[in-house]
Parts: sequence; C-alpha cells; structure tokens
Amino acid sequence: MDLTARINKGNNWWKRAVFYQIYPRSFMDSNDDGIGDLKGIIYKLDYLNDNTPDSLGIDAIWFSPFFKSPDRDYGYDIADFCDIDSRYGTLEDFDQLLEQAHKRNIMVILDLVVNHTSIDHPWFQESRSSLDNPRREWYVWKDGKKNGKKPPNNWRNNFFGSAWSKDEVTGQYYLHSFLNEQPDLNWENPEVREAIADVIRFWLDRGVDGFRLDVAHIYCKDKQFRNNPPFYFPKKKSRGLRFTDRLMISNIMKLFSLPELQVRKYNQHQQETHNVLKGFRQIFDSYPAKTSIGEIVADDPALIATYYGQNNDELHMNFYFELLHCRFKARSFRRCIDLWEKALPDGAWPAYTLSNHDVTRVISRYDNDGQGDRKARLLLMLLLTLRGTPFIYYGEEVGMKEARLPGHDLKDPVGRKWYPLHRGRDGCRTPMQWDADKYGGFTGVEPWLPVGPDHEKYNVEMQQNNSGSLLNLTRNLIRIRKNMPALLEGRYLSQVDQIPADCFVFIRETEHQRLLIALNFSSTEKKVILKQFSNKAALIFSTNHQRQAGLTGSSILLGALEGCLLEL
Ligand code: GLC
Ligand code: CA
Repeated sequence: MDLTARINKGNNWWKRAVFYQIYPRSFMDSNDDGIGDLKGIIYKLDYLNDNTPDSLGIDAIWFSPFFKSPDRDYGYDIADFCDIDSRYGTLEDFDQLLEQAHKRNIMVILDLVVNHTSIDHPWFQESRSSLDNPRREWYVWKDGKKNGKKPPNNWRNNFFGSAWSKDEVTGQYYLHSFLNEQPDLNWENPEVREAIADVIRFWLDRGVDGFRLDVAHIYCKDKQFRNNPPFYFPKKKSRGLRFTDRLMISNIMKLFSLPELQVRKYNQHQQETHNVLKGFRQIFDSYPAKTSIGEIVADDPALIATYYGQNNDELHMNFYFELLHCRFKARSFRRCIDLWEKALPDGAWPAYTLSNHDVTRVISRYDNDGQGDRKARLLLMLLLTLRGTPFIYYGEEVGMKEARLPGHDLKDPVGRKWYPLHRGRDGCRTPMQWDADKYGGFTGVEPWLPVGPDHEKYNVEMQQNNSGSLLNLTRNLIRIRKNMPALLEGRYLSQVDQIPADCFVFIRETEHQRLLIALNFSSTEKKVILKQFSNKAALIFSTNHQRQAGLTGSSILLGALEGCLLEL
C-alpha cells in the first residue's frame, strides 16, 4: 500500500488493527540453517493476510528484534540498532519485507530495545575503555562501596543477581537491569536521547509504522541511586524493629538470596521517564500515522495508565500484563479487565495479549485438567471481542503448546542458569508449526530449538481446511471483529447482575449496534437470560462451531467452556 492509501486508512489505524507478534528466529527458515529469517517471513506473508478470507487477516506485525546481536538474550541485546543481523538477512531484505507487507496492508512495527545495549555495542566498548572517554557518560558508571569491593547499591537485575558488575578496565561498576552483557544506557544524558532519537528516525524514514518499547518503565533511574527497600519490610512496622531484629532479618535474607525480594522503588517508574516518552511521541507525531506500544510492567493498573501521558502525549498503547496472570475464573478475568478499563484516562486506548515470548503459552497455561484446547478457544474470543487492540502471538492461532525442553536444549540464559528450577523462556519460542513434517515445515535441518509437542496435530496445514479448527476460529473472529463497529470502537460494559456463576458477560455497543459476549468459564452448562438485555437476540458466532447462528429465544444455554457472541 502506498503512503497515501495508508494515511487514508487513518491515523488511528492501530485502533482497528489486529496485531501479530513474530519471533523472527522461529517463524520460517528460508535457507536451511535452522534459524528463521526475513526471507522466510516474506514467504509466509500471504498466510498472514492475502486480502482474502483464506488468510488469517491480521493487519500489523510486531517483530521481536532482528538487529545485530551476539544473542546473549536472543536479540534483546543489540550491538547495532541500525543494521539487521546477518543470520536474519540484510537491510535490503528488510526493505523488501516492508514493501511486501505494506502491499498486503500489513503494518510493520519494530522492537525498540533501548533501556540497554549489548556489551558488544561500539558505544559500550568506547564507554568502558577509560574514565575520560567521551562516551563514558553514555552508560551508568559508579564507584563501588567498601573500596570497590561492594556494588554501589542494593539494586538487583530483573533476571537474578546484582544489577551491577565491576569492570576491570577502570575498576568502576556499570549498571545492568538484565544480564551483565546488557549494560543500561544513561538516559539522563542528552546525547543518549539524541542518539536514540536518530535510531527512531532511521526506521521511520525507512517506512516502519511504529515501535514496541521494551521495558520502557525502566529507562530512568533515581538520581541519587538510593537503596531499594526490602519488600516485606513495611515502612511503618519496620520502625518498631530493633537493630538486632534487622540484623537477623538481613542475615536470613542473604542466606536465602532474599535480596531479590525488594521493592523496585528507585530503579523503575521514575518521573523523568515520562519526559523521554514525550520526546519519542513528538518524533512519532512528526510522521503520519505512526503508533507505539509500551512494555510497562507494574501491578497497579493506575501506574501503567500514566504511560499514556496526562494529555495522551506519551505512548499510544500499553500492554496490560495482569491478564497473563489471571486464574481461569470468569471473575478473575472480569475484575482484571474492569480495573484496567477504570484506570485508563479519557481517550487512552487499551491493548491486550494472552501470550508472548516471555511467558508460558496460553493454551498450556490452563491445561491442568486437559481442557487447554477449549479454554484457548474461549480466551481467543475474549481477546478478539474486548475494547482495545488485540495482539496474537505467532502459533497461538493453531494452538501451539509450551514445550518442556530438556536442559541440554535450553538456549535462554534464564533457563540455562536455573534449570531445573526454571526452564526459562524457550518453551514458548519453538519453531512455528506449518505442517506435520519432522521439523514442522519450519526448516529442513535441525532447528535452533526443537519443534514443540504434538505438532502433527497443531499445525497450519492440518487446520487450514478443518472448519472447526482453532485456526478457523481465529480467522472467523478476526473477520467478524473487522466488520462490527461495536467490536472496533464500541463501549465496554461488563455485567454483574443476574449472570450465572463463573460466566463473564459483557456488552460492546455503539449508537447503532449492541453486542453481547457471554463466556462460560465453567465445566458445566450455564443459562444466560437474554431478555434482561433485549427482546431479541441473534447468535453471530460461537466457539462451538456446531452451534447454528441465528435468532435465539429469551435465554441461551452455554455449553461448558463455550463462548457466544450475540447481536441484541
Ligand atoms: C523485555 C523482553 C525480554 C527481554 C528483556 C530485556 O522484557 O520482552 O524478552 O529479556 O526485556 O531486554
Ligand atoms: Ca535461516
């Protein structure tokens, strides 16, 4: 699609779009080296959207990083923000991908991973080389305590261990909120802000449509680098503790590595970060029709909501990860969503996802009773009928399961370090399952991670022509969503009165259209009375593909784990 057509689609295209996250390493391998690549993705674009009902019908792709990287954190440690890693292809391949995607009306958003760089980034190489290197202040350097033997403060990184590493070159410590191979940029430094602004412009000039902002709540740190408080030391009560109690507690903490359990008060969610994001937004807004979505991690929805900016002048959307932690209960999901809806300032647009490259795949998350498949159908209906932009994780549409990989297959540093206590995040990053072949149609050689479980059944080829498959359910829901103004832009009204136990029922409505979504989270049938909402109701779609669409009576009997979409 040319630029004019895109702009005609509207500046707010991202509010109507269904997004799809691709983990490039695992989507499609074009040259049989076992690693997915850009050419492979181009080859599969028609599957995502060829403008016919036979394709998935998504409108935008968020690509996890494919920039130059030594892969200590699989692409989230970047050594050159403006180049493609040779294993994925070249900048020319990228231009091709962008052109081919736009031709199919698919927008492209990139992963902006700028809290930190790779330790191999030339900026860091310069920065570490001497105390007076011009790039010294591009990263966060501090003297250690106790003659340099102890880190400057008690901050922990987000994986495990101290957030500080001592660099022998100068004897100072540098800050890293993740691996020690991922040094944090110093966002207090205007030169860093300018350099990243250039990175953003580089990609926008090339034609990308926006960015996902990796850990955007972490950019700025406390200016005084104060120690974080331990999390079970409630402020008021701690005043009552005697010195010896404190000493004992601090020793127990050390013994059991409890320093991990601290309130990250001073190394995330700092006020200054909002100014950085306002600056980004000004750049986005200086181009037509761009978007952004923040990876903001916080328990408090009101805090996440602040990243939209008081005047909607920060990020266009923010993920709401609480949805990934709900128990499989109607009430749990409803409360979670209601809280988010309530917390959002006027004009702020929500975004939802059920899976990504960091968490257990949704189909396996709730599979303790072997009903994971049906639950996945129900949750996809929820995802695609909520108010806000849905993000689908590659393979979710065919029910790809979490892989339980043996220790020797693990690649993610989190799993490699903590196996068998923690298998890390590889289980949700296995190759896309295109067909029942040995390697799932992803590659012709041993892939970088083994193909996931039961791929003979959970793959595109098998599900393509099966009208009851998860793939077809997803396609249908996407198509319905796009054709229903109430689903695209209608109000969200969750219902609590006279709703059967363990059912989540909500209305989406515009002036001209009123829809009811009724989701049965229980394993027994549930009757939802419809006449309280309207005198007539028509079933549009059910997760049970055998149920006939059409007019219903004054109530509807939902099957176990069935979800229905009705027009009132
Ligand atoms: C984000 C990414 C995760 C990565 C981390 C550090 O949380 O989603 O995969 O490890 O940032 O960049
Ligand atoms: Ca390849």
